[in-house]
Amino acid sequence: MCGIVAYIGNREATPILLEGLKRLEYRGYDSAGLAVVNGGLKVCRAVGRVSVLEERVEGDGGFTGTLGLAHTRWATHGSVTEANAHPHHDERNGIALVHNGIIENYAALKTYLQERGHVFKSETDTEVLTRLIGELYDGDLESAVQAALREVTGAYAIAVICEREPDSLVVARKGSPLIVGIGSDEYIIASDPSAIVAHAAQALTLEDYNVVKVTREGFRSSTLDNIPLTPKVQQLELDLEQIELGSYSHYMQKEIFEQPNALRNTLRGRLDRAEGRVVLGGVSAFAKEIVKARRFILTAQGTALHSAMIGEYLLEDLAKVPTECEYASEFRYRNPIIEDGTVVVAVSQSGETADTLSALHEAHERGALALGVVNVVGSTIARETDAGIYLRVGPEIGVASTKAFTGQVAVLTLLAMFVARRRFMSPDDCADLIRELEAIPGKIETILAGAERIREVTEKHIERENWLFLGRGYNYPVAMEGALKLKEISYIHAEGMPAAEMKHGPIALINDGMPAVFLANRGRQYDKVMSNISEVKSRGGHIIAVATEGDQNIRSLADDVLYVPECPECLSPMLTVVPLQLMAYYAAVARGHDVDKPRNLAKSVTVE
Ligand code: G6P
Repeated sequence: MCGIVAYIGNREATPILLEGLKRLEYRGYDSAGLAVVNGGLKVCRAVGRVSVLEERVEGDGGFTGTLGLAHTRWATHGSVTEANAHPHHDERNGIALVHNGIIENYAALKTYLQERGHVFKSETDTEVLTRLIGELYDGDLESAVQAALREVTGAYAIAVICEREPDSLVVARKGSPLIVGIGSDEYIIASDPSAIVAHAAQALTLEDYNVVKVTREGFRSSTLDNIPLTPKVQQLELDLEQIELGSYSHYMQKEIFEQPNALRNTLRGRLDRAEGRVVLGGVSAFAKEIVKARRFILTAQGTALHSAMIGEYLLEDLAKVPTECEYASEFRYRNPIIEDGTVVVAVSQSGETADTLSALHEAHERGALALGVVNVVGSTIARETDAGIYLRVGPEIGVASTKAFTGQVAVLTLLAMFVARRRFMSPDDCADLIRELEAIPGKIETILAGAERIREVTEKHIERENWLFLGRGYNYPVAMEGALKLKEISYIHAEGMPAAEMKHGPIALINDGMPAVFLANRGRQYDKVMSNISEVKSRGGHIIAVATEGDQNIRSLADDVLYVPECPECLSPMLTVVPLQLMAYYAAVARGHDVDKPRNLAKSVTVE
């Protein structure tokens, strides 16, 4: 969603701000803008790509200076227009501001400001905050920001500059991430470390209600009431290579191909084959509560919801603990019953998804132990849970989530084994499953080696506008994920569902040649899946089957077979999803879409 970059130092700010915005493009946006202070305030905004903004700024030639801020906007309040793009400014005092989040009480504040003569130029909540700071400005930007934020309800990460104070930049946070990267005699502030890492190795992560005043000489952190805070500076756990494309054409492609090594990192140090046990340092302090849990609730959105659905099967199947999985957005508002012994697990790549975060708060407030299965270290969900297990799959930049999915499934498998082994799973059974788990990355490599054939099969159907993805048991959520991937980046309509459900309505959609992708690997429901395949085939559907290597039988039913190596059924989603990720990728490429910047989507959705 929205992205912030700001700079104060001794170099020209504009090139650094534009480079930072380009690194944030993956998060999804629809307009961009930039402001610098050099004598006066200069602001430029543009609808569309950062490249449009860049052309305008460079064409103008006047965007010089060593203090500035920039933004990519993903519309929430008001449509996608230049007037609604950030930075917003208050002409009276030459204040410019960029904002991620939502100011909930903006309407009341707007009326108050209009009564005081402010004329609004946009439909945004952000302009209200900008003008409120302007209204309260009395020669000190830091105090004006503190005073304004005391009046505000909602979520924000903001950066503010003022033409009257060319030596300071003020930033603040509540509920939306913001980091101050510390370079040598310069500071780069951003909502995402990928915009900072090229310039700084150390950073200060703002906590909620922190206001930080940054000058070229240093920074000062305080509360909204101006009580000084001791800032915690940390090493940035990210290097440039991790966020560069290298030899790949798209981040999504890179991340699909990174999965074997990403999973090796997820599993590293967590499997003790000799003792037949799983070691999870991040949750060990709560091992007793977790093992004695009477119920797990898994909650997430998007792709993370699909991995959580697999987690439900894993926890019930391996650990035999009643488990529910639910969209965080629904769970939060249905007055959920949380009994003693409930463990809620929030699954999230970014750790910032607003719906997931509020579901977590709700469950926590009602007494559940809150665990996080998160990728981004230090993210809000990671910090607001009692304990957690990081994915360790590295930064995921492609909007369509891939390696985070397999990482989430791997971590939920570890969690289920952790509980199972402490309840009734024997060390030998656990060691056997560990051996199989360790073999998964190599098996994904085998699937990736056959990517070309997956591309050919996909391209045969590239003109079709409707696809079905069908699976049973552990592979029902994989079918959902396959359909979501295809929708997200190729804009083809796809539905994923339990294979048996197809008979209860969707079968009416099947027409001649309609692609139906079946997860038909060997497992408990193999024969039933075969029957479902026959039902679709006899109505003219074109069957693409993801099957277990060596299964010749399926050739008599399926039009195309994509093989995956054999593995225990409970681990199979980490294999069967890979051909579906590649199909979505190749379909989007064949249709000429911008794979890493799909229309309307955002990488991290920080509004409910
Ligand atoms: C957005 C992204 C999806 C992601 C979902 C949940 O919609 O586009 O790829 O699955 O948010 O995100 P999270 O960061 O919580 O996993």
